[in-house]
Amino acid sequence: MAMRFLLVACSLVAIASAGDFYQDFDVTWGDDRAKILDNGQLLTLSLDKASGSGFQSKNQYLFGKIDMQIKLVPGNSAGTVTAYYLSSQGPTHDEIDFEFLGNLSGDPYTLHTNVFTQGKGNREMQFKLWFDPTEDFHTYSILWNPRHVIFMVDGTPIRDFKNLESRGIAFPNSQRMRIYSSLWNADDWATRGGLVKTDWSKAPFTASYRNFKADTCVPSSATSECASNSVPSDGGWWNQELDSMGQQRMKWVQKNYMIYNYCGDLKRFPQGLPPEGSLRGCSLSALQSKAAVDVQYLLFDDTILSLPVERMNGM
Ligand SMILES: *[C@@H]1O[C@H](CO)[C@@H](O)[C@H](O)[C@H]1NC(C)=O
Repeated sequence: MAMRFLLVACSLVAIASAGDFYQDFDVTWGDDRAKILDNGQLLTLSLDKASGSGFQSKNQYLFGKIDMQIKLVPGNSAGTVTAYYLSSQGPTHDEIDFEFLGNLSGDPYTLHTNVFTQGKGNREMQFKLWFDPTEDFHTYSILWNPRHVIFMVDGTPIRDFKNLESRGIAFPNSQRMRIYSSLWNADDWATRGGLVKTDWSKAPFTASYRNFKADTCVPSSATSECASNSVPSDGGWWNQELDSMGQQRMKWVQKNYMIYNYCGDLKRFPQGLPPEGSLRGCSLSALQSKAAVDVQYLLFDDTILSLPVERMNGM
């Protein structure tokens, strides 16, 4: 792996960090249920009836390409949730979430994603996976640059949350975030909406992590910003977006594996579609596919379209 250390403006360091859990993370709860093993190359979290466990990054990041390999709780994982996410602090925090909702043996996990900006979420998209995530490690990545938050699974993009600040939609680009992960019991809602409970006779439940890799900005203060010249020129992630191949692969995933998209959920818009500013990043196609809606709103997540000018007033 190319490791570059660039010093920019005396205060800002673009770093590539790889794979030592001792160096990059702190166990934050669960006592010895969280373990760092193999000289820092492997981390395991476990959950039993008394407690789950979790860890967080030592660094706070503002933008980056962050990869983690995770092997999820095998067997009967119903009721368990393995959360892996980036988050800042406070009531107007930003957050980028992967959550893996466990299931009965042989039934598929649900991969739940969400993006919070300025404390507001409600942008859930859920997927099935095209492999058994408990059999082996798979790479879950967040590409976060000033224009996109792209969720990827084994390099395949599944979701692209675009920067549409110009249309009045907040984007996470000013608050530093830490990486967090936890394994916990959520059997009041996780599996089939809470119908299937955790089978404690199968405890402890264990998830494993390895090959953490981060090409990131680590601003030295909350106010310093990552500049485009602060990232390695071969890093690419700063300017990265989906090329046509990437867009096609994402469409394939969304067509075949997406099981929930907040955008198409008209039950959440009982009074009809809200003004575009509060749609918070939905695509026209997702809304149109729910038919019978006179969609004049031209919005996003996977497709950027232009808003009619008269609708941009007041944004
Ligand atoms: C668990 O499996 C059932 C049956 O296939 C499915 O309906 C459900 O969405 C799966 N995931 C969760 C988290 O309940």
